[in-house]
Amino acid sequence: MSDFEPFYDVKHSYEDNYEQGPFGAFAEALKATPSVTSGDSSPYEGEPGKKTSDGVVGEPGSAAFLGQPVNLPFGIPAGPLLNSRFTTAAFRMGFDLATYKTVRSRAWGCNPFPNVLAVHPKSADGSLTPGSAELDEGVLADTDYEQPISISNSFGVPSQSPDVWQPDMRAAIAAAGLGQVLVPSFQGSRVEGMSEEEYIADHATTARLIKETGAKLMVMNTSCPNEGHNRLLCHNPLLVGRITEAVKQEIGDIPLMVKLAYIPSDDDLELMVRSTVGHGTVQGFSTINTISAKLVDANGNQALPGAGRYRSGVCGNAIRGAGLDMVARLAAIREKLGLDFKINGVGGVVSPADYQAYRNAGADSVMSATGAMWDAELARKIKSSIK
Ligand SMILES: Cc1cc2nc3c(=O)[nH]c(=O)nc-3n(C[C@H](O)[C@H](O)[C@H](O)COP(=O)(O)O)c2cc1C
Repeated sequence: MSDFEPFYDVKHSYEDNYEQGPFGAFAEALKATPSVTSGDSSPYEGEPGKKTSDGVVGEPGSAAFLGQPVNLPFGIPAGPLLNSRFTTAAFRMGFDLATYKTVRSRAWGCNPFPNVLAVHPKSADGSLTPGSAELDEGVLADTDYEQPISISNSFGVPSQSPDVWQPDMRAAIAAAGLGQVLVPSFQGSRVEGMSEEEYIADHATTARLIKETGAKLMVMNTSCPNEGHNRLLCHNPLLVGRITEAVKQEIGDIPLMVKLAYIPSDDDLELMVRSTVGHGTVQGFSTINTISAKLVDANGNQALPGAGRYRSGVCGNAIRGAGLDMVARLAAIREKLGLDFKINGVGGVVSPADYQAYRNAGADSVMSATGAMWDAELARKIKSSIK
């Protein structure tokens, strides 16, 4: 690995990152006196043509994320920003959307270390195609982190208890500057013996706990493997519909975005839209999450240690094609049904051109997890590329 230090240090455990992070440029940003792009005192930068003191320009015409004003509709999705120190550093580095890592209604442990490995798909451009044989045959995974970066992450969606994350989320929200938005993310927790009704209610409870922090919007993750082996909640659009009804009852007018994994069938995707947006419970989709692949080491053996970790989610450069495809198909469904909902494009954004490709595919906003981890300057690069 190069000397570059991602703000989430993959060489250390989740717990160490939670206690000691962020690292690298994000750590420097936290120490420094807040600049004009920070969350503390910045004037609104979003008006077309208005230059800020560090030379970035608000993107003409862009104004909002689920109704909240934003300088540039670009940021970091759920995952690498573990707590308010990470989200505040992200704001100071010019990421105007900072998602607080997915929280639950209860404390939840992390999968054993390591949680991140570099992955090396076989194709010349390093891409992975949903449904391809390579995903089942095995993709090489090791600690050789090359650019353009693709990784696998295997955390099991850990969460602090609400006693810890609620006050911290409040602090995270307060640290957003003008034109910046803290985006809370949550998911339901399926525990042994839970009925479907209880599972639905757990989502609503978690949404209420977020509402109590003063959040102005929230994202619900449905791309979690809660529904049995390799089956995700978002593969059951009717259940997602019932869950969003229950969540909406709790949060009222607060906009709700649903995080989706890659959904191959247009019919299933349309059913997802109809059973959520069509009922007035959802105002947007964020997509995609990671793509599941079998990970092998150089000898063809299981790369991540431990039972149940044969497969893991791949993200970064490898999945950009899949993310763009999903966004374009969602945008086509939006057009076809004449429905009004927002699309947040995620997956493999590592450069300003990738941001633009998502906007061109129909995304109203864009986020980067892996790309931002390996390039703390990514938001600033995108801003300076937009003239
Ligand atoms: C370190 C890490 C942790 C993640 N944890 C979560 C999570 O808690 N909840 C979630 O919805 N997505 C999570 N993700 C998935 C990202 O939000 C995103 O959907 C995925 O990584 C694809 O984007 P990328 O190619 O820019 O990384 C995580 C991603 C990474 C890299």
